[in-house]
Amino acid sequence: MEVVIVKNPDDVAVHAAKRIVEFMIKKPDVVLGLATGNTPIALYERLVAIYNEGKLSFQDATTFNLDEYIGIEPSNPQSYRSFMNTHLFEKVDIAQSRTHVPECPPGENPRVIGDAYEQKITAVGGIDLQILGIGSNGHIGFNEPYSSLASRTRVKTLTQQTVADNNRLFASGEFQPQLAITMGIATILEARHILLLATGKQKASCIRKAIEGPVSAMCPASALQMHRYTTVILDEDAASELKESDYYRWVNLKHESLVDEYGYFHND
Ligand code: GLP
Repeated sequence: MEVVIVKNPDDVAVHAAKRIVEFMIKKPDVVLGLATGNTPIALYERLVAIYNEGKLSFQDATTFNLDEYIGIEPSNPQSYRSFMNTHLFEKVDIAQSRTHVPECPPGENPRVIGDAYEQKITAVGGIDLQILGIGSNGHIGFNEPYSSLASRTRVKTLTQQTVADNNRLFASGEFQPQLAITMGIATILEARHILLLATGKQKASCIRKAIEGPVSAMCPASALQMHRYTTVILDEDAASELKESDYYRWVNLKHESLVDEYGYFHND
């Protein structure tokens, strides 16, 4: 696992955007896996700014979002489809038909939608680069603790902690979903590259468990230890409980000189 520690949330966005742009310049027809939540908003703003400068195009890109709530329509402003439209899709040159969210409108069978979603990902050759945030309980996508490490796109009942964490985003009296459809942990692990972003003290404990704890379904993000090309980009607050942060900084310094000498390789 490559662990990159930068100063603040802005630097996390700048660093992540740089990685994505480098990737997209090499492979304009990239298949991106996308995440919602507060953490990637600054990243999407940065990508939109780079697009507006004429230095990036999403025209040939295809996207798959990690997850979506069940019980609200995609047109609901609280849906993850709406989130993506607002923060990225409507601001860049991507055709809506190339953007995918595992939408499950009322009356649809989530199991059918989950299987079809997996097939769509396979049909385009898989995800090249998956962006992830992390829930304070270690979830990735909506793979709550105790999710099977072999799980695929399916329905998950949200934990009470996740419902409470996300409650700030809903007005009082507004319907707040307690179910979601999410890519599984095995689906995520099939992405060729993974970029997990975390900022703030409230993520310090789950980040410690994900990076330095045992691989366990109790902390779904710890499954990323099994993925060769995972990069975790953290601000100092999110990294504050890591025992080996000095080593990660040292590795990154060494890495720069190794890249100068031998060209690109990954810190796995
Ligand atoms: C939600 C999303 C996750 C996201 C998490 C953390 O639960 N399903 O994909 O990583 O929130 O969100 P935030 O970045 O707002 O802390």
